[in-house]
Amino acid sequence: MQRAMLPDGMWDGWGGLGSLCLGSRGPGSAILLLPMSPVAPRAPVSFGQYTLIDRLAVGGMAELFLAHQAGPDGFEKPVVIKRIRPHLSRQPAFVRMFLNEARLAAQLNHPNIVQIHDLGKVGDSYYIGMEYLFGRDMRRVVPKAETLGIPFPMVYALKIASSVCEGLYYAHQKVDLYGAPLNIVHRDVTPENIFVCFDGTVKVLDFGIAKAANRVEQTRAGELRGKLSYLSPEQCLGKPLDHRSDIFSLGSVLYEWLTGFKLFTGESDVAVMRSIVEGKVYAPSYFRADIPEPVEAMLMKALERDRDKRYPTAWHFQQDLDRFLNAYEFTPTHLHLSNFLKQLFLDELEEEQQRLRPKPAPAAPAAPGPTTETEMESVPPVEEPASGSAGERIVPVPVSASQWEALEALARKHNLPVGKMVGDILSAWLKYR
Ligand SMILES: Nc1ncnc2c1ncn2[C@@H]1O[C@H](COP(=O)(O)OP(=O)(O)O)[C@@H](O)[C@H]1O
Ligand SMILES: [Mg+2]
Repeated sequence: MQRAMLPDGMWDGWGGLGSLCLGSRGPGSAILLLPMSPVAPRAPVSFGQYTLIDRLAVGGMAELFLAHQAGPDGFEKPVVIKRIRPHLSRQPAFVRMFLNEARLAAQLNHPNIVQIHDLGKVGDSYYIGMEYLFGRDMRRVVPKAETLGIPFPMVYALKIASSVCEGLYYAHQKVDLYGAPLNIVHRDVTPENIFVCFDGTVKVLDFGIAKAANRVEQTRAGELRGKLSYLSPEQCLGKPLDHRSDIFSLGSVLYEWLTGFKLFTGESDVAVMRSIVEGKVYAPSYFRADIPEPVEAMLMKALERDRDKRYPTAWHFQQDLDRFLNAYEFTPTHLHLSNFLKQLFLDELEEEQQRLRPKPAPAAPAAPGPTTETEMESVPPVEEPASGSAGERIVPVPVSASQWEALEALARKHNLPVGKMVGDILSAWLKYR
């Protein structure tokens, strides 16, 4: 089976959402997002009331599958199944913690939080069923813009952060049926847990289950480094957390989107955590002189080492973000964000829509039962988009012989079909020339 390296160092035989990330994410370094080459087709697999169609991602704690939920009269709905990895499903302490947290997350019902609609067990596997989101997480959006030579626009970053604040605030102040606070803290506000849909809506992913995930990740040190950068000082020190930890993490994420530099880095996990605890934050204008002063002030406030000095709630943070956006020369709406995102991922949209088309029913009996690793291996991969559509135009493109050679060398180095890679670069050039 052909494999692709995910940016966090994990292997994904299904090729994520059809792209391959190359390069590192240190300060100033580039990430290149390129189309995957195809792998051998596999058949859909029954999983309780769902049919698993494609694997979207694999993490330390869980695998994510695109699935279909069938209903009466041919009704079919795309959903996402997050299946806890089998070795963890066998650890009672982990399962208890996961179920507690997931039950809380399932109570959250807000437009800026991914909706969980099912929590269950098939065979030995615990899973979460949630709405399928058609879009991209921000770990992929910002580098995609960079590869097309577009610095991620400040107003979109602020707009997204404002929506994240709204989702966070809702969860932070959530109370149970009897009015008792649930004290929910996300604990893992990172670019990959912030998702922008192609309709311009923003969703926070992975709510509340970071506590259970932390148990796993402690044993997987080294794979964590990318995520550690967004921890709050109190998280690094193992102190009891409250909602202000998430405000700090969002500040750290927004800092990176606006300056292009990760705020806290280091040679090792310990070095990253030390730099967070020391709390030395260069003013964002040090990296980007054109950052407006009010934006700089917001970031510095969210990133206060002492949580008493931060925004007291995500709502206060959002108020400042919105006030700035409303007074700014361009105030983006959902529609603007939607159009921007569609432009960025034009090359991948059609392929993904193809994948959502209903597939033939699985050959295996649909009765619920244990789903084995071997069965999971049979979930089909991403399909190669059809090329050569009718109505194609031939446009002369100025590529010198030396540029062509450089492209060929790059493709060879990363073992990619040169034609496809060049085609993508050219379509980006045509879009933005
Ligand atoms: N509901 C969803 N719809 C579409 N893609 C999703 C959905 N949930 C997660 N993803 C994608 O899968 C990735 C990993 O999912 P996540 O739930 O954050 O798992 P992990 O526990 O591994 O962090 C996300 O960063 C996102 O790109
Ligand atoms: Mg996640």
